This record gives sequence, structure tokens and C-alpha cells, in this order.
Amino acid sequence: MTLKKWLTGSVWVASLLLATTASAATFKVAIGDAAGGTQYELGKVFAEQLKEKSGGSVTADLFPNSQLGDEQDTINDAAMGLLDFSILAINNITPFSPSVAVLTMPYVIQSLEDARTLTQGDVGKELTEKTIRDAGVRIVGWSYSGFRVLTNSKRPVRSLDDLKGLIIRVPKNELMIAFYNALGVNPTPMAWNETFTALQQGVVDGQDNPYITISAMKFDEVQKYITPIRYLFSLEPLVMSEQVFQAQTPEVQAWILEAGQAATEYSYEYIQVTEDNIKQELQAAGMEIVELANNEQDWIDAATTKVWPAFYDSIGGKERLDAVLATLNR
Ligand code: MLT
Repeated sequence: MTLKKWLTGSVWVASLLLATTASAATFKVAIGDAAGGTQYELGKVFAEQLKEKSGGSVTADLFPNSQLGDEQDTINDAAMGLLDFSILAINNITPFSPSVAVLTMPYVIQSLEDARTLTQGDVGKELTEKTIRDAGVRIVGWSYSGFRVLTNSKRPVRSLDDLKGLIIRVPKNELMIAFYNALGVNPTPMAWNETFTALQQGVVDGQDNPYITISAMKFDEVQKYITPIRYLFSLEPLVMSEQVFQAQTPEVQAWILEAGQAATEYSYEYIQVTEDNIKQELQAAGMEIVELANNEQDWIDAATTKVWPAFYDSIGGKERLDAVLATLNR
């Protein structure tokens, strides 16, 4: 065989291989929470949809419970193209994409409907673009996990005074640290995958997360009191490495986006049918739900007067927050 014929043959075989592998892949999906929470449900439906849409040629394997690293580390890995997907709490993306903090400004999102309006409309589109630019990851789906509620092992918290002296774990997130500072507490920033052990060993007394996350992570084994403070509605997006996304064929990209949208719609239904049951299960497991003693306005005032102004710059100016609030008719 002449060199020319051999080369032509090799190029042809290589092109054939590329064509067959270009639309066949198995992706890895890191999940911060244990199975049983909204993150896992989003991942499960995303994987099912991807498989169905691609006729089985594109699949996704789920790795829950931070098996592939702490949530914030997975963003770095995905940005570098070392990881395909991650599902994590939005507050663990903001350190890499500050403008996303507009969704984590305390008391901005006041209902599931607010959360849906912002993520599914122009605000969500803009945040997706900015997150690609700033963090190297593309938001392809959202899970809706409910409000973060405060838990602790020491005492019922009904007021800001009750909160004083408690050691509260927060994610490594400037805004959440500032929120607790505004309430008169000096919180302990800590990675998510260290939180259960820290609560168990009494290194910290409390933390906040949605009911469904508290249940999935078995925090009822190490926490006693819940105060529904509702300052932050937890959004937990599915993000994809932009490098990996760009390496896919247009057909695979379309399947990924469609599967992400279908999983998002499922998540919106899922939280509505599960949250009340989970709340009851946590109470049956011995947790006590303690309502604020008619003083929620103290918490809201602290957030809006001390925290909001400190973060206008990082979210793109006060006008941006005003525009978000206008989208919510406020
Ligand atoms: C955190 O508290 O770090 C996160 O909200 C945890 C999570 O992803 O559920």
C-alpha cells in the first residue's frame, strides 16, 4: 500500500470513529447532597431524559454525597473541563460568579413562584451567560429546594436574642456571612462536605438548609430545633463544564438543554408534593419546629439595611436589584 493510500485510509477510519463517538458519551454528574434530596431528583430525571432523547447513546452517571469533591471544588473542576456536570447549591456558585448573588440576596425571593419567575425568565438567561463568562460553567437546569431554615442543637430560637452565642455554620459565601453578622452573630464558614461531622462533634451548634436537604443529609440525627426563617430560597442548579459543552455536537447540546429543562419542570412539581411530608417526618424523628415570635421584621430590616447595600456593587449595582424586584412586582 502506498503512503498516500494508507494516509487516506487512516483519515477515513479516524473520521468514522469521530462521527460514531461524537454522539456517544457517558457524563459524570457530581452531586453535593446525599440521594433523597432535590439535587439527586434533578440529576435522576436529567439522566433519564438524556438517555431517552439520545436513544441510549448519551448517558449520565450520578455521584451523590460529594463523592467527587466538595461543591465549590466541583466548580473549579468543571471550569477546567475535568468534570462534566455538577449539581450544587447556588450559594456555592456565587464565589465564582458574583452576579448570581442577586438570587441569594436575603428576602428577595419570597416564594416558589418568585424562584421560578426569576430562573425561567430574562434574569435566569442573563445569569446563565454571566456564569459561563465568570465561572466557566453553563447552568442547564434548576432544582427548587425550598427556603433554608435554621437548625441547632442547643435551644429554641424565636428571636435575634436567642440566636446570640450560637455557633452557626455557613457556606463559604460572603453574603451569607454578612447576613449572620447583621443579625449579631459571627458564623463559621465551612465546606458542605464537612458540615455533618462538625454538627455531630459539636464543633458548630447549627446551620441552615432547606427541609428536604436536612432530611437527605440526616441532620435530624444531630440537630434538635428548627426555626423557619425563610431568608433564602434555595436554588440548586445543574451546571455543565462549558469546555465539555462546546466539545459536543449540536445534536448532543440540544439533548442536554432539553433534558435539563424537563428535569427543571419536574423539580418544580417535586418540591410541592414532598416538602410538607418531609417536614412531618423530621418532626416524627424528634425535631421541634419553633416559629419566630412575631419579630420577622427585625430579621428583614437587618438584611435589607445592612446586607443589601454592601453587595450592590458585586451584583451589578442597586438598579439591578431594583429590576429584579420589579420583575417580581415589588
Ligand atoms: C451548603 O449549605 O453549603 C449548601 O446549601 C448545601 C447543599 O448543597 O445542599
